[in-house]
Amino acid sequence: MPCPSRSDELVFFVNGRKVIERNADPEVTLLSFLRKNLRLTGTKYACGRGGCGACTVMVSKRDPTSQEIRHFSVTACLVPICSLYGAAVTTVEGVGSMKTRLHPVQERIAKSHGTQCGFCTPGMVMSMYTLLRNHPQPSEEQLLEALGGNLCRCTGYRPILASGKTFCLESNGCQQKGTGKCCLDLGENDSSSLGRKSDICTELFVKEEFQPLDPTQELIFPPELLRMTENPEKRTLTFHGERVTWISPGTFKDLLELKAKHPEAPLILGNTSLGPAMRSKGCLYPILLSPARISELNVVSKTNDGLTIGAGCSLAQVKDILAERVSELPEEKTQTYRALLKHLKSLASQQIRNMASLGGHIISRHSYSDLNPILAVGNATLNLTSEEGTRRIPLSEHFLAGLASADLKPEEILESVYIPHSQKWEFVSAFRQAQCQQNALPDVNAGMRVLFKEGTDIIEDLSITYGGVGAATVSAHKSCQQLLGRQWDELMLDEACRRLLDEVSLPGWAPGGRVEFKRTLVVSFFFKFYLQVLQELKKLIKPFPVPNSRRYPEISDRFLSALEDFPGTVPQGVQRYQSVDSHQPLQDPVGRPVMHLSGLKHATGEAEFCDDIPMVDKELCMALVTSTRAYAKIISVDLSEALEIPGVVDVITAKDIPGINGTKDDKLLAVDEVLCVGQIICAVVAETDVQAKRAIEKIKITYEELEPIIFTIEDAIKHNSFLCPEKKLEQGNIEEAFEKVDQIVEGEVHVGGQEHFYMETQRVLVIPKTEDKELDIYVSTQDPAHVQKTVSSTLNIPINRITCHVKRVGGGFGGKIGRPAVFGAIAAVGALKTGHPIRLVLDREDDMLITGGRHPLFGKYKVGFMNNGRIKALDIECFINGGCTLDDSELVTEFLILKLENAYKIRNLRFRGRACLTNLPSNTAFRGFGFPQGTLVTESCITAVAAKCGLPPEKIREKNMYRTVDKTIYKQAFNPESLIRCWNECLDVSSFHNRRKQAEEFNKKNYWKKRGVAVIPMKFSVGFAATSYHQAAALVHIYTDGSVLVTHGGNELGQGIHTKMLQVASRELKIPMSHLHICETSTAMVPNTIATAASVGADINGKAVQNACQILLKRLEPIIKKNPEGTWEEWIEAAFEQRISLSATGYFRGYKAFMDWEKGEGDPFPYYVYGAACSEVEIDCLTGAHKKIRTDIVMDACCSLNPAIDIGQIEGAFIQGMGLYTTEELKYSPEGVLYSRGPDEYKIPTISDVPEEFNVSLLPSSQTPLTIYSSKGLGESGMFLGSSVFFAITDAVAAARKERDIAEDFTVKSPATPEWVRMACADRFTEMIPRDDPKTFKPWSITVA
Ligand SMILES: Cc1cc2nc3c(=O)[nH]c(=O)nc-3n(C[C@H](O)[C@H](O)[C@H](O)COP(=O)(O)OP(=O)(O)OC[C@H]3O[C@@H](n4cnc5c(N)ncnc54)[C@H](O)[C@@H]3O)c2cc1C
Ligand code: FES
Ligand code: FES
Repeated sequence: MPCPSRSDELVFFVNGRKVIERNADPEVTLLSFLRKNLRLTGTKYACGRGGCGACTVMVSKRDPTSQEIRHFSVTACLVPICSLYGAAVTTVEGVGSMKTRLHPVQERIAKSHGTQCGFCTPGMVMSMYTLLRNHPQPSEEQLLEALGGNLCRCTGYRPILASGKTFCLESNGCQQKGTGKCCLDLGENDSSSLGRKSDICTELFVKEEFQPLDPTQELIFPPELLRMTENPEKRTLTFHGERVTWISPGTFKDLLELKAKHPEAPLILGNTSLGPAMRSKGCLYPILLSPARISELNVVSKTNDGLTIGAGCSLAQVKDILAERVSELPEEKTQTYRALLKHLKSLASQQIRNMASLGGHIISRHSYSDLNPILAVGNATLNLTSEEGTRRIPLSEHFLAGLASADLKPEEILESVYIPHSQKWEFVSAFRQAQCQQNALPDVNAGMRVLFKEGTDIIEDLSITYGGVGAATVSAHKSCQQLLGRQWDELMLDEACRRLLDEVSLPGWAPGGRVEFKRTLVVSFFFKFYLQVLQELKKLIKPFPVPNSRRYPEISDRFLSALEDFPGTVPQGVQRYQSVDSHQPLQDPVGRPVMHLSGLKHATGEAEFCDDIPMVDKELCMALVTSTRAYAKIISVDLSEALEIPGVVDVITAKDIPGINGTKDDKLLAVDEVLCVGQIICAVVAETDVQAKRAIEKIKITYEELEPIIFTIEDAIKHNSFLCPEKKLEQGNIEEAFEKVDQIVEGEVHVGGQEHFYMETQRVLVIPKTEDKELDIYVSTQDPAHVQKTVSSTLNIPINRITCHVKRVGGGFGGKIGRPAVFGAIAAVGALKTGHPIRLVLDREDDMLITGGRHPLFGKYKVGFMNNGRIKALDIECFINGGCTLDDSELVTEFLILKLENAYKIRNLRFRGRACLTNLPSNTAFRGFGFPQGTLVTESCITAVAAKCGLPPEKIREKNMYRTVDKTIYKQAFNPESLIRCWNECLDVSSFHNRRKQAEEFNKKNYWKKRGVAVIPMKFSVGFAATSYHQAAALVHIYTDGSVLVTHGGNELGQGIHTKMLQVASRELKIPMSHLHICETSTAMVPNTIATAASVGADINGKAVQNACQILLKRLEPIIKKNPEGTWEEWIEAAFEQRISLSATGYFRGYKAFMDWEKGEGDPFPYYVYGAACSEVEIDCLTGAHKKIRTDIVMDACCSLNPAIDIGQIEGAFIQGMGLYTTEELKYSPEGVLYSRGPDEYKIPTISDVPEEFNVSLLPSSQTPLTIYSSKGLGESGMFLGSSVFFAITDAVAAARKERDIAEDFTVKSPATPEWVRMACADRFTEMIPRDDPKTFKPWSITVA
């Protein structure tokens, strides 16, 4: 079977159109092909590793055996185009469009307010669309599963689920957990005004308006492909790329022949293992063998003693096959299948399970593999085939360890896997613990099986296998052997734990870290298994009475809670807001839940983001070269090899900068010194992004290490390494107060940093013009004026030659305020030097490495209080890790200090803060700007006081809260009435006191599961502490047809600012929103703008738009007066005739704000947003997992401009805050290298992290005269309310510790990860693990907070 040197034609369909690719390159992914070759840019790049779902598309294939057409979702970033031979691909553009017909999925996600920035929306649409293709009326559980692999950083998922639920079989609506009661009818107990008021709305969209789903309207499977599968091509197909050849045989025989000929060539199936390895580890395989067309690898056969599954079956298919078998066979035979099914539900995402094959999973032998430990203990065997014949090998520990004697031979392939039935007296279980419940690689997993001598509790056979605790799956074979013949009792349990810890030993420096946690899980899992089996034995004992049956230890009901895992529950909830006044004209959209202006375009993929702009003439790509050292002198930079790579045009270094290279301490491009790993040194410019990325590997940089290298706050303090002077506020006499109090508590709080993880990474396109050194810059930024200024100073050309355009930004959260200017300036230098347009799109890895994020914080507090809980003195000192340059660190420190008091009136206070200078990438602005970290210290301190007083924390909060008109620590007067109202409403609406009692009851009855409840108040100040930062401008043009173009200084980041601005213009001009349009934010239209940040974007720009509209209306007044019955169009025509200017600039001079740090006094903030949140969680003390039972938020939005958008902001920020405090953990190596550089290692909340019941209410009847239409800016405040989940977790941990008689005051560390929770719930298992002396090894990671 010859392998021709000419490529075959690759034939597949996209959105019903045939694609013939004559030179298909095996290295090209479907994502890149769609975006670059077919210009279908609806499918987005956000991670490139299958971890975020932004690139989800549907693939349809006809099964050659069953002849059925399978539709399944995939992540296009991992699909090589060559794998698509004979397949039909549907992208978001193929589903529906604004130009033709919207698909109901697209319509509903937009109208349900399920889009904010819209970057994740096409992926969401495709996951839902694929689900509906297979199940036109899915269950809510299926919906949750389908969306589990799609990340959204903006919405908090609730509205996305709401849109999906409209397709589900009768949805539960807001029925509370089967009680049949609606959350709105909370009954007599609900004394809240929210429950009583008749003008409270709970609908943000009208379901009845939606188009019905009509499955007959969907794209059909292309008839040509049907014909192709009826008469399948048996010929070997070959596709030659530049570096890789793809060979796809048509018969099994040819496959074996090819494998014999190319033994080193991997088989490529789902590419979910090979793909990421080739991308991140740089593995290159010159030949790839694709068995996609070999039906023999998909055969499934059932026998009396087991099941044989073809190695080519996808994990999704395996799940279906096992589920079917479980439904057919008695329980005793399906123990292994059930255990596999359990893990198949949480393994990766639906998309990955659709792509990944069973064979690929087994052969990859990842140490974290979820299936291999179960297959190993279940005595699975592997059926291998080669030209030489077939043979069987056990899927044993030796195979998993990769021992040559127990492995495949290079010319062999895995044909199928045989999984035997289990038998009576045999029990198999699976365990897994990850950073979060779904779509996360496990920290540790395990498969456990025991077989008893019939009718006894004597162990006849025992197998235990762990994943995640070594380089490969580890079998505890020795321990198991030593336990044979033992009875299943407490003595055996103790001995087993000791032996397991001995055998499955993990060194202190083990890669992946979390060593003590992993050790604890090794025994905790076994304990769970022990209890499970004991329960099962008891059931069996009745029909089979065994001698000495009294030996079975009784499990008290309190301990049974160890057995249950947290089930995935579909979130429910209610959103409440005050309806507009009944007299408000219908046409006036202010205060109504108007859909995001771009919602429908987000859903169809037509919304254009920066990198969706078509390639411009002569465009080049740029890739950045970054430092691999934390603090070093650059000795030499050798570009020669890189410049020789075909397609490479130039390398831009600091020498190429004609103007200013950043600042003295913060260079755009490093000159002779680097200050952190990830600092940009130079940039390659090439014809394609692939060439540019290949070239950066070839640049050789030599360094000479400098000292001292500082990463942690502790080291910075030791070395007196700070970025700016201390910031301090003081009131009363703290020392004197400490002398008069009943008690004093001191404590420490560590809060880790946070990655912005905006779905759209940093990107910029710089287009040099031919005349006058003009540049057009399209950039994803919150601050185009800053990009413009920086480019101007870097290129040494006046600002007026540079125009920055921002159409929309795929999420910013503060991360696109300062950084985009750096990327814009470097790209501009490249454009100037080469004379070509330059496109720079950061990979997720580079984005996370380079850009920094939220400042990690270390806080120390000393609090003095009376025994009744009244706090008399509070002294807090905070240190934030600023990284290697100043950036916003001084401002963050100031804001942190200003906001530390939160909602509390404490007479004697001292707050101090310092920003540490370390050798980490510079940290920067992030939603909340210091408040979410700092205030965690304050609230932790309150909790500590409560513990000492023996009172519930909410009592201490209440006792110390501001009550009357008062002054803050910086002497700004304010009225806390709305704060108190939010607090009381929140207590009422959440039935807090009842639930606190119920949680206590639950805790008494359950030893291994504990519930915690917490309610947190919030006083959040919005705005910048300077008047000039509150100015804003707008430009409104009325055209002669009556249409109006609005431009203002704010940027659309997903927060709906453009929608709100048109609502304002519509009210002011008294015309429908359909007459109004916003095109983009441009520095040429509105100059000298302020960053869209600090929650005031809509306030201040709204005032400017209002001003412009009022000016225009004033000019039109005489005309309207003359013809009051005329139409808008007639008035405009008349105005034009009468030479009245139809264009006006609106301006808002800004809220007054100032702060005098010398005096510690000022009026730094225009106003406060008040709120309160109550959360309840349940923790699993054995694994550290938690589930969020319920959250209720009450927020004072005053008169919301748009309740759908504002509730969306609150929910999105809350979920982001929850991520900060529970799962998002940045890990650094001891050399200062950020490990967590993608969605695999850094876990932002997924859809299954949303609280099971999630209610948000806007406080009714609240006013603020200062702002536009008495509305409030809500962009940031919800973030801190996520801490209610954190404090609920710590409440549950405290309950566990109390029961175990361990001190209740423990060091508070955020995020409260499963690791932290497990280790804080100390018990006999945490006590039995070996502990390492930290001085004896170098840890895998360091803590920088
Ligand atoms: C985002 C993401 C999340 C994930 N999460 C999890 C998780 O939570 N838990 C977990 O356990 N895993 C997880 N995985 C890993 C996933 O399970 C594996 O990548 C997958 O099962 C590999 O299958 P594949 O078909 O894609 O293999 P490929 O990448 O196509 O191939 C992998 C290897 O297997 C070999 N191979 C494949 N088939 C055969 C055969 N028939 N005979 C001989 N050799 C063969 C190939 O030569 C290659 O070396 C995740 C992966 C991704 C990308
Ligand atoms: S870009 Fe493909 S999954 Fe993230
Ligand atoms: S709307 Fe989902 S990421 Fe922005």
